[in-house]
Amino acid sequence: MKYLVFNSKKEASKEAYKILRSLIDENSTLGLATGSTPTDLYEEMITDYKAGNFSYKNIKSYNLDEYVGISYDHPESYHKFMETNLFDHVDIDKANTHVPDASAEDLEGALKSYQEALNNANIDVQLLGVGSNGHIGFNEPGTSFEAGVHVVDLKEDTIQANSRFFNNDINLVPKQAVTMGIKDIMRAKNIILLAFGKAKQDAIRSLVEGDKVTEDVPCTILKNHPSVYVLVDKEADFQ
Ligand code: GLP
Repeated sequence: MKYLVFNSKKEASKEAYKILRSLIDENSTLGLATGSTPTDLYEEMITDYKAGNFSYKNIKSYNLDEYVGISYDHPESYHKFMETNLFDHVDIDKANTHVPDASAEDLEGALKSYQEALNNANIDVQLLGVGSNGHIGFNEPGTSFEAGVHVVDLKEDTIQANSRFFNNDINLVPKQAVTMGIKDIMRAKNIILLAFGKAKQDAIRSLVEGDKVTEDVPCTILKNHPSVYVLVDKEADFQ
């Protein structure tokens, strides 16, 4: 695992983009994340695309997760997030982008087909943020490391943390989500995890310090992955 500390989210995101570029080419498959963490990295990707240095025409993407119970048009759906923060600004073919279909009438069927798609995907780089309780994707503490694509009941602290995107009203935050499983995340060839702010410090300590791997802190599984880059700002640094 490579652990790198930066003065700011911006600096860390610039380096994350350099690392990403060193790991992919224009035919690669990306695992994408949402939340406030990857936004500057997506800006770096857009800037470099606009400068003519990289094309997404043949890039495929698979997202980690999506809320259950809000429509794709909802400004806080992860479908919408990806369009607003990345897809609408680069030449990616939307047909090559995949976000779990969490509002399908046949949710079981949708989980199955996302699982099948992931099983055939060969993700070159998976981008990750981390929840303050150590969740990755929406794999909350206690989730089996053997889990594949599944529906999650979000933990109270996650609902609380994400209420900032929903007018700070926890009643508006979806209580369930569909997420890739830990097993799916671990299958990516490379992983870049970003974490910013003091709220992430404990999760980062569990991830980087020592060798304890526990389902109580899902991100600790990454200690077992052969190619992980962890980039944090100094607030998230635990040392
Ligand atoms: C969210 C997402 C995760 C994200 C994490 C941190 O709930 N499902 O994929 O990495 O929690 O969120 P943020 O980046 O907004 O701090």
